[in-house]
Amino acid sequence: MPLKSPSKYVLAIDQGTLTTRAMLFNQRGFKVAEIERPLRSFTPKLGWMEHNANEIWNAVQQVIATILINTSIQPQNIAAIGITNQRETTVVWDKKTGEPIYHAIGWQSQQSASIARQLIKDDHNDLFREKTGLNINTYFSATKIRWILDNVEGAQERAEAGELLFGTIDSWIAWKLSEGDIHVTDYSNASRTLLFNIHTLKWDTELLNLLNIPIEMMPEVKSSSEVYATTKTFQFYGAEVPIAGIAGDQQAALFGQAGFEKGTVKNTYGPGSFIVMNTGDEPQLSKNNLITTIAYGINGRVTYALEGSIFVAGQAIDWLQDNMGMISNPFESREAALASTNEDEVYVVPAFSGLGAPYWDLDARGAVFGLTRGTNRNDFIKATLQSIAYQTRDVIETMKQDTGLSIPTLKADGGASRNTYLMQFQADILNTEVDRAAEEETTALGAAFLAGLAVGYWHNTDELRDVLADGKLFTPAMDDAKRSYLYHGWQNAVSATQMFKP
Ligand code: G3P
Repeated sequence: MPLKSPSKYVLAIDQGTLTTRAMLFNQRGFKVAEIERPLRSFTPKLGWMEHNANEIWNAVQQVIATILINTSIQPQNIAAIGITNQRETTVVWDKKTGEPIYHAIGWQSQQSASIARQLIKDDHNDLFREKTGLNINTYFSATKIRWILDNVEGAQERAEAGELLFGTIDSWIAWKLSEGDIHVTDYSNASRTLLFNIHTLKWDTELLNLLNIPIEMMPEVKSSSEVYATTKTFQFYGAEVPIAGIAGDQQAALFGQAGFEKGTVKNTYGPGSFIVMNTGDEPQLSKNNLITTIAYGINGRVTYALEGSIFVAGQAIDWLQDNMGMISNPFESREAALASTNEDEVYVVPAFSGLGAPYWDLDARGAVFGLTRGTNRNDFIKATLQSIAYQTRDVIETMKQDTGLSIPTLKADGGASRNTYLMQFQADILNTEVDRAAEEETTALGAAFLAGLAVGYWHNTDELRDVLADGKLFTPAMDDAKRSYLYHGWQNAVSATQMFKP
């Protein structure tokens, strides 16, 4: 395909739980440069997880500046910026000064647990579920906003006076990049707040009132692909670049995997693991504890998805390295798993912050089962990798039940998808082909696609499909009896884990 504007690139900002990254993509969807900065998190109390929102913004500026300097690409050659982000994480800031009034409360943080419990006790879960597609849970933004308004002196009054703004990280970055010109989010991020009605596509005043959250704080909800504003903060570059794409990271990954068809399923193996199935233009409520969410909205059309959120995936590999000292880098986990000679009888259930889908047991804690005198480091590491695949199967089974659809292929991406042992075990335990994307950073690519579409850098989804290179296919090679035996063992391990409440 001939390049239509060879000197232009799309810049994607991927602001995640662990890092802030900038990536430049060319028209062939090829990543020409990448810069990242680690992000600190704070745990002021057990179960809490916060970031400094100013640090996030500084990191965004740094990664953009560095990528331009390192590549000598002029900002005039950036066709558009796409933003993708860790979702649900909540920032409340002062409209005039731009100063956050509290740390950004992270998606995993459980400091608002009592607010969530009270809402459930007051029998509101069905109402929230029906309107938002989500169950009441600290994971989503609503109870985090309430917590900030309750715990920062004077915040409720200031919010009611229209002095405070709420945003997920996409809103925060777009507001900063435009120097306060726009206070927006997109459908995919709005659908993670527990306050957005996914049927009417509006903030739901009944839910806002229940939580006493003034609607004035809420961002305007836009499509995932349009020019929202141009950048103001980089005047020193002498260019105003259109901010033209926004999507939550997991939805952006689905888009970056060209998951445009109903029934497409992807799993991003990041710190957590998020399995998302495109369910087309009607929201489908899960009977089995999956989340109904908005994948993206383009050209006035919204596409819905079912999602299973697994809280601990790649983080379990970090845990092996940082806490257990069993490996000195993530790549060693593959070697160790391959060197293990046991019969896969060890199970690690990494429920470090409870269990996500389909269990939603926030009080569960991690456990290890099946140890013998012969168990060694390699077996332990292998079992930890396998836990990622088992959790994925739990969600995929649930998706099949909910939709009645078969899932012939699982599209895979994200950091831990580099681990070929994990990918093969995933195919084996699912009895499904796993198609690992050629571009591991499909989240950023998805944001670039959304931004590029809005400015005519790419023209339609067919063109996007064409630019994707072929991935690597992992084909199931385990016999049925072994697969059933192993998975049964995993289910027993999860049940036993749930019985232990510290
Ligand atoms: O819902 C949380 C998810 O968006 C977090 O993303 O990959 O940055 O941890 P990640």
